[in-house]
Amino acid sequence: MDGNGRWAKQRGKERVEGHIEGVQRLRDAIKGAARLGVRYLTVYAFSTENWGRPEAEVNAIMELFCKSVINESPELQKQGVRVQVMGDRAGFSEKVLAYIERIESETAAGERLTLVLAFNYSARSEMVAAVRRIASEVAEGRYGVEDITAQTISDNLLSAGIPDPDLMIRTSGECRLSNFLLWQSAYTELYFTEVLWPDFTEEEFERAIESYANRDRRFGLVKK
Ligand code: IPE
Ligand code: MG
Repeated sequence: MDGNGRWAKQRGKERVEGHIEGVQRLRDAIKGAARLGVRYLTVYAFSTENWGRPEAEVNAIMELFCKSVINESPELQKQGVRVQVMGDRAGFSEKVLAYIERIESETAAGERLTLVLAFNYSARSEMVAAVRRIASEVAEGRYGVEDITAQTISDNLLSAGIPDPDLMIRTSGECRLSNFLLWQSAYTELYFTEVLWPDFTEEEFERAIESYANRDRRFGLVKK
């Protein structure tokens, strides 16, 4: 969900206005995903690097998260959306932590769509944590080095149990992954669009899905 700041600046507004509008587009994307039968929607809401932004913006994003939990929870429950927060929880204030736990427990019964909120997330950090956990299990003799497979690594990431993404969308014209789902995206179809996230309507979301539907996924094999 990139381009909130630029969207706001283009309109002579503060960056936070772009984040506020961005929440509305996330709501549209959730609606569109549920309607199109998408089972998992993972969004990059805040990276571990984003703490380095000006304090006022970081605080505004944290406040916006808490407010959105209050505002969106009833509708998410009604739509059968289950929210799962993926990231390093040690970084959050007590207040934000409480809202994370609140949205996860209030939506726990949702079965239609899982919304994975990457929040204080970094793919490299999750891989470091996974390597450490696997290494210590090997050191304790719980399994051998030769027992480590790709599945072992998947099972030790924050995304354990969530399927690898089929499609990754990045808005605002940036063509990079920026530390997002690096292991999980080995065979993910990438979709880059110039559209800024606050302009990424349900129609734009549908366009991305349509592009995906026309891809030829071979997973390194030859076409039959
Ligand atoms: C994405 O929009 C939202 C977050 C990373 C929180 P940006 O804030 O990155 O917007 P730009 O890239 O500066 O336009
Ligand atoms: Mg950005």
